[in-house]
Amino acid sequence: MSNRARRDAGEPDEYVLGTDAEELRRLRFQHFVWTEQLHALCARAGFRDGDAALDLGCGPGFTSFELARIVGPRGQVLACDVSARFLRALESQRDRDGLSWVATRLGGIEGLDVEPASFDRAYSRWLFSWLPDSLEPFRRVHRALRPGATFALHEYLDWGAMTVVPRSEVFDHAVAACVRAWPRLGATIDIARDVPRLAAATGFVVDDFQPIARVGTVGSLEWRWPGEFLAVWLRKLAAQGLFDTADCDAFDDEWRRLTAAGDSRLVTPTMAGIVLRKPPQPRARRVSARAVQRRARPASKTRDVRPIRRRGVPALPRDR
Ligand SMILES: C[S@@+](CC[C@H](N)C(=O)[O-])C[C@H]1O[C@@H](n2cnc3c(N)ncnc32)[C@H](O)[C@@H]1O
Repeated sequence: MSNRARRDAGEPDEYVLGTDAEELRRLRFQHFVWTEQLHALCARAGFRDGDAALDLGCGPGFTSFELARIVGPRGQVLACDVSARFLRALESQRDRDGLSWVATRLGGIEGLDVEPASFDRAYSRWLFSWLPDSLEPFRRVHRALRPGATFALHEYLDWGAMTVVPRSEVFDHAVAACVRAWPRLGATIDIARDVPRLAAATGFVVDDFQPIARVGTVGSLEWRWPGEFLAVWLRKLAAQGLFDTADCDAFDDEWRRLTAAGDSRLVTPTMAGIVLRKPPQPRARRVSARAVQRRARPASKTRDVRPIRRRGVPALPRDR
């Protein structure tokens, strides 16, 4: 086996898109396309200097390094992922960049086990789409955050919204095949739709929920991001019997035609930028000094002293 083949052989817990060198390259490009949105969302979620932040499903660390620069060396980032290979790539890059305040944690997020209430922020991008069930992961994140802390997510809201304008039947046929395949591969692709429900079930409140629809002309980042993904992914679906090889060839021809014609636009899958908040602990009610004095005043002899009745609690019958 060559070094390259050995490096790219599957690992036990790799997610549906794989963790090989090709996927790492795709994630790097994808991160470049979405960096601005990450910073906008983290600003809305209040990420700042000195924060302790979790990066959940961090992959090779492109997001972790952005978070590390936001929280600075007085803060810390715990980058968590189930892929040992991605974490190794992250650690090498971290050491080259001198970002010593980024630590890694290997394991599935469903088993995330950190000191309760020890983080100020959590960020996650394109993780929950790949999980069959996100309830336990949400519980774990909630437990890890301190009261008042925020959890920012970028996830798909409507993957199947991807299309080209003017319409291409070949393109739409390929997108529809992917949409049918996602659940069969264990993905909950449009997980953003479920986030408000997951938030309510685990004690978060939704602070912000914004759809992100992007459109790009031929050659733009918006054009290249899903187009390059589909060209590779359709072949992988075909290898699993979930798409026709002849349709892969038809897609490649159509993609070349659209790119050469140059007058189309690509509408990307709709994403959502979401900010959840763990509510702050209710403060103990403060009683004013006057109220304390009033309570301490001795009852006058002439006053009719009645037992105090709490609202909603029925009084006990008096002895006769
Ligand atoms: C599409 S990649 C996104 C990586 C990174 N968040 C980014 O935006 O560049 C999905 C990542 O989730 C990780 N992952 C999948 N299932 C996981 C799980 N159960 N627990 C933790 N990480 C998981 C994968 O290993 C992969 O690194």
